[in-house]
Amino acid sequence: MNLIDGKKIASEILDSLSVRVEKFHRKIGLAFLLVGDNAASLAYVRMKKKACAQVGLHSIVQEFAADTNQDVLLRSIDALNEDAQIDGILVQLPLPSHLDTLAVTRSIIPEKDVDGFHPINLGKVLLGEEGGFPPCTPRGVQLLLEKTVPIEGKHVVIVGRSNIVGKPLAALLVQKKRGANATVTIAHSQSEHLAEITKSADVLVAAIGQPRFIRKEMVRPGCAVIDVGINRIQDANGQPRLVGDVDFEAVAPIASWITPVPGGVGPMTIAMLLQNTVDGAMRRG
Ligand code: GUN
Repeated sequence: MNLIDGKKIASEILDSLSVRVEKFHRKIGLAFLLVGDNAASLAYVRMKKKACAQVGLHSIVQEFAADTNQDVLLRSIDALNEDAQIDGILVQLPLPSHLDTLAVTRSIIPEKDVDGFHPINLGKVLLGEEGGFPPCTPRGVQLLLEKTVPIEGKHVVIVGRSNIVGKPLAALLVQKKRGANATVTIAHSQSEHLAEITKSADVLVAAIGQPRFIRKEMVRPGCAVIDVGINRIQDANGQPRLVGDVDFEAVAPIASWITPVPGGVGPMTIAMLLQNTVDGAMRRG
């Protein structure tokens, strides 16, 4: 078994980004909008902000109460859309249930949508068009695979069909391009004969959001396994612990390659966010 060291690959990307940032003629700005006090969201924004500081990006955080009215949020996004010092805008998800996530993500202008959630950017991913922003986690997964496991002509099975991971990842990996060209299957919680499908994978991507959902019986020996899940559980001693969507201890010995949690896909998501922001700033000039 070979471990895919996402932390190291992400750190190399951050190093090369800081060189680009330093040479650029002006400051590059990224705005985070955080609604409510979801502990995981707070932790993610803190990590992203720290990475910004590391590469020399200027970041701001706007915090909103959990009961914030949608118009208030949309007005703040509008102001950031117009702000010449802001190159990227990110609304941390999930939003409280009274807010319309699609309407909010759509209100960010595509040129500043560094998360790649706007229909225009997702459309470009589907069409294989350059010049947009690929969503960060799918692009991070693709890059991890480019550096470790050739996927051209191989069967990639993605378990999970979310708009931010499963669906766009399938669109990226199926393109007629280098680093893609895979045969892609999307399976999900309603799929019949799920273990048969996952066992037919050369590369298995778990993006379901359920701790240790992928058991050893679902994985063919020699398969490469990418774990997108980040789940907070309590271990046997009642201590909090992060685990992925894959039963790592059982699956790692039979996998050819596997990403750990933490230290696999997570750091790549952050690196891709900063890469999108730097790319966007350079396009805007
Ligand atoms: N929540 C979970 N993943 C993400 C992400 O990549 N971006 C944002 N904005 N929210 C998320």
